[in-house]
Parts: sequence; structure tokens; C-alpha cells
Amino acid sequence: MLETITPQPPDKIIQLSQMFRSDQRENKIDLGVGVYKDVQGHTPIMRAVKAAERRLWDEETTKTYTAIVGDGGFHKAMGNLVLGDSAAADRLSFAHTPGGTGAVRQILELIKTAAPDATLWLSDPTWPNHPAMANAVGIPVKTYAYFNSETRSVQFDNMMADLRMAEPGDVVLLHGCCHNPTGANLNKAQWGGLAMLLKERNLTPFVDIAYQGFGDGIDQDAYGVRLLAGKLPELLIAASCSKNFGIYRERCGLVITVSRDAGQARLTQGMLSRLNRLNFSFPPDHGARLVTMVLTDPALCADWQAELKGIRDGMAGLRCLLADALRAETGSDRYGFVAEHRGMFSRLGLTPEQVVTLREDYGVYMIGDSRVNIAGLSPERIKVLARAIVAVGG
Ligand code: LMR
Repeated sequence: MLETITPQPPDKIIQLSQMFRSDQRENKIDLGVGVYKDVQGHTPIMRAVKAAERRLWDEETTKTYTAIVGDGGFHKAMGNLVLGDSAAADRLSFAHTPGGTGAVRQILELIKTAAPDATLWLSDPTWPNHPAMANAVGIPVKTYAYFNSETRSVQFDNMMADLRMAEPGDVVLLHGCCHNPTGANLNKAQWGGLAMLLKERNLTPFVDIAYQGFGDGIDQDAYGVRLLAGKLPELLIAASCSKNFGIYRERCGLVITVSRDAGQARLTQGMLSRLNRLNFSFPPDHGARLVTMVLTDPALCADWQAELKGIRDGMAGLRCLLADALRAETGSDRYGFVAEHRGMFSRLGLTPEQVVTLREDYGVYMIGDSRVNIAGLSPERIKVLARAIVAVGG
């Protein structure tokens, strides 16, 4: 049987991480995988998460299974973090999943089951695992214009024109905030226009929100998803706790759906339970329990918010430093967009050849489309990076 297996295409992000790890150079710079690092290059355990972990160690008395879709306290706490009071509680259904990627996968399974003829519309570009997973589940994909590589900003009119061609019943995947890979985001007016179009054309929004709190603030980053929850009859959400709680390896994600009414929400809940059972049965619990403790204990929550703000401000500061250094090195403002973008990522607009030269000659690792993880930088390395970019002709 196994002899029928053919070589599989490597995932670009995972492959780059492996290459970085095996590079022996001391001055190498990792701007690849979307993992937050502090200025020492360390991915810390957040203070509130560590405190919750100590408490859990003391208080937890059993490791028996939770519910098939995870713990209700986690659903409530995360539902509140993502949606605030934008949708009535009885319209919500949940499924705790292994990571945000697990949540995306479960939603794709839900789409395949509930709307087998739907096409999934993805932004051009998007996270490479979006089309790969849709393909694995057997959902046809089309792309909508999103990023203008000349202006380095969202080409909203073209995006709307493309989405007008979607068939009623199609699903539109949107990045809730901190667009991956470009860092270019919709503004409030654009979210408003988009919500109207989705409603008029009977398109179902599917929001992937993996970086809430890394852009402009916890509530600010949820502006779009909350607007859609308030205005549309149905909404699919994949939320991740990997980045904003720094619990990557705990694999903690959540499906949230907004249904038309309470009766439909119960049916949706039943389907989400079944999909969890079929795919992995019970979700991992540890990360969710930490998140729930942090979000429901006022002191822990305040400390988490303060630390998250420090991370967010630090990344915004690095963006400004990099934009300034590139301005100084190039004598132009062509990288000014780096300071305007939000979240971990920006796409610099370098050619694939320049990306390879940066890696081979300068030990600078970025994804092949020139996506950089801003959090991989430290103030001391910024000048080195700016010089290297200019040296390769960027
Ligand atoms: C990324 O885009 O680098 C992150 O979302 C990590 C991943 O799983 O790809």
C-alpha cells in the first residue's frame, strides 16, 4: 500500500523553519514562521499564563475528558473576547479544536457537509495553508483581489468587483485582522461596504482571526468580525489562542458559528459535535483551561492585556525603526508602508531571487514571497537587515 505514496510538496513556512534551524551561522535572522519573539529572540510564556499554569497544577483534580466540543467556560470566555456583545448568545455554537488551524479545518468540513456546491473565495494572497486545506477537503477555491503590490495596500474596489461575481451561497474567507501575509488590513468603512455586499449577495463570511490583539488592540482588531456578527444572518469564525496567549504548542483554537436563530444554532452545534467526534474526538484541554482562567480572573486578565499591549507596541516600534532604517539606506520612502501595516507580517515586495540571496549570503530568512515576521527583529539587527535588503537590490 505505502509504495503508492508520491513525494509531497513541502509547506513553505515549515520548510523555512527547518532550514533556519540547521543554519550554523551565528548572525542569522529568522523572519519566517509567525511566532512572536522578544528582543532576545525568545518566545516567552506570558506572565498570566504561567500564573494560571501554577494555579491549575494546584487545583486540577482530574484529567478525565471534557465535552466533545470542549469546555463551556472556554466557549463563553472566548466568545466574549472575539464577539463582545455583537451577537445574541443563543445564536452561537462552538467547537474547541487543536489550534486555529484545527478550527479552519473543522469549518471547511462544515462547509463541505452543509453546502457541498459552495466555492470558497480566498484573498490573493492568503496564508498558503488555506488553499491547501480547502483542496484536501475537496472545496473548490477562487481568489479575490486583495493586495496591490505597487501601493502595498488593499485594492478594495477590485476586491468588491471580484466578490460581486461570487454565486449566492458561496463562502468568503476573510482575515479578521493582521492580514497574513501582507499586513495590509481593511479600514472600518471598507468592512462596512463589504458587510453590505455579503448580505446583498447572500454570501457567507468565514473569518480567520489568529492575531487578535497584535494589531491595534483587542477590541479594535475584532471590529470587522463583530460588525459582520451584528449585520449578517450567518457567520463562521476560526479563532486561535496560539499567538495572543503565546501557547503555540498547546494547540488551542475555537470554531464559533453565528446562526440565524437559536433553533438553527442547536442544529449547528450538533453538527460541530459530530465533526469533532469524527476527526479527533475530544480536543486537548490544557491550553483552553489556561485561557479561560486568564480571561475570567480580573487580575490575570489585566496582566495579560498589559503584556499583550507591550508585545503589540514593541512590534509597532520595530516597524517604525525598520521603515526609518530603509528610508535612510535607500534614500526613498518606498518602504514607508512597513510602518503603516499591522500585526506580525509585511510583504516587502522583493523578488524570489533576492529572497534567496538574502538567505544564502546574509543569513536572513523570510518566506519566498518576501513576507517578513517583524517580531523576528531586534533594534540592533534592523540596520543590518536594511543594509542587506539594499545590497541585494531591494
Ligand atoms: C504563519 O503563517 O507563519 C503561522 O500562521 C504559523 C503557521 O502555522 O504557518
